[in-house]
Amino acid sequence: MGFEKVKQILTKLTQEHVEYLKKVEEFERKLETEFSPELVDQILQFIDNDIAEHARVEEEDLDEALKEAGITDFDIEALNFGHQTLDEIVEHLKFLVDKYRAGEATYLGKDLKKEIIKTAKEFFTTLKDHFTEEEDFFFPDILKYDIERFE
Ligand SMILES: [Fe+2]
Ligand SMILES: [Fe+2]
Repeated sequence: MGFEKVKQILTKLTQEHVEYLKKVEEFERKLETEFSPELVDQILQFIDNDIAEHARVEEEDLDEALKEAGITDFDIEALNFGHQTLDEIVEHLKFLVDKYRAGEATYLGKDLKKEIIKTAKEFFTTLKDHFTEEEDFFFPDILKYDIERFE
């Protein structure tokens, strides 16, 4: 019972991917053309609010819905592994931003602003790959359980 809930969550997550990819494209463009402290704040807010909540739904709500549907052998850890990689990049980004906000101009002899742009772009590229992996592999793998139930 209860596979509808799983499908609802996957639909919502996929819609959010589309919505967030648009935001990511805009951020990537602005990083190139109009870098500012406000843009950095907006990016960190996007990561700490939208992306963090999205990951929480995948790690907690989806996991719970799978269990409620009687699916106990899906490897949710594999899906969560991607989040750890993203978290590590965010940690480095925040480290650089703290230095930038403190008025520093370089990090390890490199231009701090450029390092922030590079790291933010790395985050966005990794996020896009992660969304693709979920949509191409993990979500279809989950949906297969619905078909198998009627075989
Ligand atoms: Fe994810
Ligand atoms: Fe996702």
